[in-house]
Amino acid sequence: MEVAPPNPGTDAADLWTPESWRTMAAAQQPTWPDAAALKQVHARLSGLPPLVFAGEARHLTRSLAQAADGRAFVLQAGDCAESFSEFTADGIRDKLKIILQMAVVLTYGAGLPVVKVGRIAGQFAKPRSLPTELVGGQVIDSFRGHMVNDDQPERAARIPDPTRLVTAYEQAVATLNLLRAFTKGGFADLSQIHAWNQEFVASSTEGRRFEDIAEGIDSALRFMDACGINLGSEDTLHQVDFWTSHEALILDYEEALTRKDSLTGDWYDCSAHMLWVGERTRQIDGAHCEFLSGIHNPVGTKIGPSATADDVVALCERLNPARVSGRLTLITRFGVDAIDDHLAGLIRAVGDEGHPVVWMCDPMHGNTFTAEGGQKTRRFDDIIGELQSFFRIHREVGTWPGGVHIELTGDDVTECLGGVEDIVEGQLGQRYTTTCDPRLNGRQALDLAFRIADLLRS
Ligand code: PEP
Ligand code: CO
Repeated sequence: MEVAPPNPGTDAADLWTPESWRTMAAAQQPTWPDAAALKQVHARLSGLPPLVFAGEARHLTRSLAQAADGRAFVLQAGDCAESFSEFTADGIRDKLKIILQMAVVLTYGAGLPVVKVGRIAGQFAKPRSLPTELVGGQVIDSFRGHMVNDDQPERAARIPDPTRLVTAYEQAVATLNLLRAFTKGGFADLSQIHAWNQEFVASSTEGRRFEDIAEGIDSALRFMDACGINLGSEDTLHQVDFWTSHEALILDYEEALTRKDSLTGDWYDCSAHMLWVGERTRQIDGAHCEFLSGIHNPVGTKIGPSATADDVVALCERLNPARVSGRLTLITRFGVDAIDDHLAGLIRAVGDEGHPVVWMCDPMHGNTFTAEGGQKTRRFDDIIGELQSFFRIHREVGTWPGGVHIELTGDDVTECLGGVEDIVEGQLGQRYTTTCDPRLNGRQALDLAFRIADLLRS
């Protein structure tokens, strides 16, 4: 029998509505040119079916509570920005393959349940450092993700178009439908484990290490079968729980997909299982925190180098006043050189206030820089370096490093430097296809999983 968690809010929750964010300053919102068109889209989305159900979001909260308590590890991964133009079944399958591979490496290597959360089926909007950019001597609006405008470097393409909110919903529906089919319909069955190793990954050292694990799992299954254990009836061998998440950035979209759960009477943002606010939208008195404070999904907030201990404790109070375990994930993203100056103090401050949180490391966003050729990139070694510090600091403070947040793709791209293939700056242009931040390719992502498994073991 499902038990609903207590209300995340206190008295303030009584005043919350899905639209109460509108009275507050909302950073990073597009200036929609046609208010009537936006209103129409909002009405349409509000009447469409939810993507996820409240009971699923509660299930995820319980799984995340295990990660807050040190009994599980969270792998949150996917594109920086999903694309309307690169939307294929193969693309979704290949992204799922690499995430499943990483999860197996972590589960097998660390002997812990891994909570699998995709940055997928809704990750269509991007906060930008600058509202405009200079292209061929012309100042044009920045690209804000396919939910808002187009990435083509032309003035007209960058005009926000609210009908894109509906396209985003439709693409999210189709993506989630395929993910549910793959994860519940046989593809994620452990007997299929060899099929997750794509050709370009399988031929690498990491791919071969993965094959070793896969063979180990095969023989363990054969052994249990020979012992007379009925493997056919063990659902967990044949299906996986795969959750969706994205940055709750465009509040018109999130509000329109928010529904009251008929079982508990509580509000859920049914656009995804988990939602987070970014480094640029986590203002304590801002619209994004207001919105997240009232939905009952598990939520997260990015935490960068500018966040003080007081800021972070205030965010915990704002987003999880009832201190529900699994409700709040703090996703730290300092950069390899800054993590030592910040993380320990924040962990202690949050612990002193008795806030149960999942501590998650995003080793991507603090380590981004622009290469000489003009592409945004990240060094594999910096990503590993921040992760090593994350694990070491948690060990020193005595807290549990609960998860990682990774930008990756199943494709064989050349967007991040280094890794086993040792991609150098001159090679970035070869296969650089991201619409926003640079992602790890399949080999780099699998390599990363092996390193994290080692860190978890130590
Ligand atoms: C992101 O996750 O893509 C992102 C923009 O992160 P942050 O808010 O941490 O900069
Ligand atoms: Co990003």
